[in-house]
Amino acid sequence: MPKILFIEHNGKQHVVDAESGKSVMQTAVDNLLPGIIGDCGGACSCATCHGYVDPAWQDRVDPKGENEEMMLDGAMNVEPTSRLTCQISMKAELDGLVVRLPASQF
Ligand code: FES
Repeated sequence: MPKILFIEHNGKQHVVDAESGKSVMQTAVDNLLPGIIGDCGGACSCATCHGYVDPAWQDRVDPKGENEEMMLDGAMNVEPTSRLTCQISMKAELDGLVVRLPASQF
């Protein structure tokens, strides 16, 4: 089972098991991770699942879609590595994925 390393804005780390096919957001919510809310349930319409995908993983995760770009335009603390984690589906090749969490969702 692939694992995700989530790093809170204060540096606290959480390693969680991720089921293949589930989104990074759903994995975080299922593990009661602080900093990922997922208000819209993964419909790409709330941006409360904002996270920063480590640059080393940028090319390996699902690419950003048009809706995601639009939602990120209205999100807080957006950086070049920003993603909506509900739009990233876990798979075996993403074992070890590193996602940092913004301070704005705590
Ligand atoms: Fe709402 Fe990702 S959960 S945009």
